[in-house]
Amino acid sequence: MRDSPKVELHLHLEGAVPPSFVRGLARQKSIDISGIFDEGGNYRYRDFAEFLKVYEAATAPLTSPEDYHSLTRAVLAESAAHGVIYSETFLSPDFCGARDLGAWREYLHAIREAAEAAEAQDGIILRGIVTCIRHFGPDAAREVALCAAETAGDWVVGFGIAGDETAGKPRDFAWSFDMAREAGLRLTAHAGEWAGPQGIRDTLRDLRVERIGHGVRAIEDLALVDELAEAGIVLEVCPGSNVALGVYPGWRAHPIGQLYDRGVKVTVSTDDPPFFHTTMTHEYDRLSEAFDWDDGVFATLNRTAAEAAFCAPETRAQILKRLETA
Ligand code: HPA
Ligand code: ZN
Repeated sequence: MRDSPKVELHLHLEGAVPPSFVRGLARQKSIDISGIFDEGGNYRYRDFAEFLKVYEAATAPLTSPEDYHSLTRAVLAESAAHGVIYSETFLSPDFCGARDLGAWREYLHAIREAAEAAEAQDGIILRGIVTCIRHFGPDAAREVALCAAETAGDWVVGFGIAGDETAGKPRDFAWSFDMAREAGLRLTAHAGEWAGPQGIRDTLRDLRVERIGHGVRAIEDLALVDELAEAGIVLEVCPGSNVALGVYPGWRAHPIGQLYDRGVKVTVSTDDPPFFHTTMTHEYDRLSEAFDWDDGVFATLNRTAAEAAFCAPETRAQILKRLETA
């Protein structure tokens, strides 16, 4: 499965930082983050709340646009090695310049330069989705939305929300999503990972997104599953993330198979690969074992992902062509 071409829609840039990369930067800058690693040198956390804390701590050594340039190169080299031909990554002005627009522009410039170099070298295409963080609150989200609106275009193509899904309500963030929509950005939101079906309903109603990050707990309400299928809402499913964080006890218990069988537009992504000891190849291999999925199913998932990508039509045509000729 490693070499088959893949489209990934849900990847957090900071969440893709290898532990060795963070340790190297931390050593250079004399920042002590030893507490976030286990004896094996991997990220250490017991549950989602701790995951979010470790995630934030791991961003501490990422203090300059140059750091994000190297990070982006490292992440895209790894993605390309697993067959990813197109990727959308969540970018957080909260971590890139503390929501200051001028600083954000500099970080974005560095990330885009790295993406261009990766595309020239490996053919992998990257686009950005600016993301606010739910537990940082609605005021911070407004500043993030302003950064997103000011830099919206052919590269920053979307706006989203991540973080602790139990903090606040989707409607608290409606102003930010309205602002992003008016700037021409396409919308996605994390929902239905930690909160149940009602969280997905509230998100669709109040934020009017076309994709949902995770969304897997829709399975607890089959009427909602039918509505998602009917409306063509795309789920950015990250099964390895859900299993690692304990949303489901194992791959066979994961609802992606049922959602797919019921006609929901599902796609597959890694979320935060080193945190969850996963890669796109690993996701595909485990899914193929758990649900007996063959190449035809994976081709469908990738076509769905390409069609749901937030990029320009010419870029989509290019991706679809590469999927078809594979
Ligand atoms: N859920 C919510 N917030 C996140 C995640 C996630 O899976 N990954 C990084 N931030
Ligand atoms: Zn996520």
